Amino acid sequence: MSDAPPPASRRLYIRTYGCQMNVYDSERMADVLAPLGYAMTERPEEADLVVLNTCHIREKATEKVYSELGQLKALKTERAAAGGSMTIAVAGCVAQAEGEEILRRQPAVDLVVGPQAYHQLPELIARTHRARGERLAADFAPEAKFDALGAERSTSGVTAFLTVQEGCDKFCTFCVVPYTRGGEWSRPAETILAEARSLAARGVREVTLLGQNVNAWSGEGGLGGLARQLARIEGLDRIRYTTSHPRDMDDDLIAAHADLPQLMPYLHLPVQSGSDRILKAMNRGHTAESYLRLVEKIRAARPDIALSGDFIVGFPGERESDFEATLALVREARYASAFTFKYSRRPGTPAAAQPGQVDEAVKDERLARLNALIESQQRAFNTDQEGRVLSVLFEKPGRHPGQLSGRSPYLQAVHCEGPAELIGRIAPVRIDAAARMSLSGTLVAEPQPA
Ligand code: SAH
Ligand code: SF4
Ligand code: F3S
Repeated sequence: MSDAPPPASRRLYIRTYGCQMNVYDSERMADVLAPLGYAMTERPEEADLVVLNTCHIREKATEKVYSELGQLKALKTERAAAGGSMTIAVAGCVAQAEGEEILRRQPAVDLVVGPQAYHQLPELIARTHRARGERLAADFAPEAKFDALGAERSTSGVTAFLTVQEGCDKFCTFCVVPYTRGGEWSRPAETILAEARSLAARGVREVTLLGQNVNAWSGEGGLGGLARQLARIEGLDRIRYTTSHPRDMDDDLIAAHADLPQLMPYLHLPVQSGSDRILKAMNRGHTAESYLRLVEKIRAARPDIALSGDFIVGFPGERESDFEATLALVREARYASAFTFKYSRRPGTPAAAQPGQVDEAVKDERLARLNALIESQQRAFNTDQEGRVLSVLFEKPGRHPGQLSGRSPYLQAVHCEGPAELIGRIAPVRIDAAARMSLSGTLVAEPQPA
């Protein structure tokens, strides 16, 4: 008889920070740990294994991890006092960037595992159970990771993420990603298509292709070609992808937006700044003008596309005139939504050592002005949908009884009254009212099939 607990008696709690790539990775970690008897729980206090899947992008994100670890340590001590045990694992980009330091700063951590080592998790966990042995796994070999994770997914949702590319070779001077996720690497088309078919067979109607530079996917035909192949999969009605880099937005991908009804009219295309001087210091490899021309070209292919972006205010050396150039770019590009950030100094990145670090109060003030402009554009984009009929993919029940919640092609949340059978299906909805973050509407009766 073994003294190990019987299967499925162990509880796993995963807390995810950062980008969608981490959300995808967390799902896959849950998949590989299930055969070891780990079932998910929403409550860290009842978990036998806690995984923090971390983000290193800004200082705040990193500090959150250490404060969370402090709380987990208290839970672990309580558990030990009651004669039990709890394993704490740190995964994700902080694990990659600060591996040794995590173990030093928080000795309650049992295990540190970088983004390319998740397929080794079962073994690492088993070793930790036995001997508290191997505590650090943070080498790069994305191929091994994806081979070992396989195509089978346990997702039960209507929408799913699907990683097609990882890593970054762009080395923007503010960013840690090239260090935490390694170089650009593309998954082979066959394994992506196999995973997509498996998802579709499980009832997934929409996939979002993920990559730190998703449009740098370097398989044959590029991302546009991949989208064309995915569009042939029975049941996959919607395809999205994120995040794109302006330098990798090629003509075929743009053409795919005109050709493929499955390719949703939404594009996350970060520009970061509207000042050429700052863009150069950021090493972005594009200018404000080249970005705006690119947006023009995309709108020529898909006039209604919802444009989204990322912005950084207060990059070292940013003057008021640079910031005004950013506002001017936003006015010209017209965003449906955007993420805005204050520059955060990341140790080891070139910009962190640059002179001309901007005062926190100035950053706050610029962020507020940029947010006000973006919010007004977001409102305008949403208000434009009033009176239109949009096809909505219903994902789940809404907040009120009898209500459904879904997404428009433009990724807006849409709420309306409707029967639960519509979940997992696409139906036309007339938009009655727009708020900044969501739309509400009325189902339009579909003609009955003959
Ligand atoms: N690969 C994507 C984005 C990755 S990080 C791209 O190139 O667009 C997501 C966003 O975080 C970035 O677009 C940037 O706007 C922001 N970001 C990255 N590093 C940052 C830093 N040091 N301070 C503030 N924002 C940062
Ligand atoms: Fe970071 Fe730039 Fe790479 Fe995006 S392109 S992940 S911002 S280095
Ligand atoms: Fe954060 Fe890593 Fe994603 S640093 S944004 S979790 S790639």
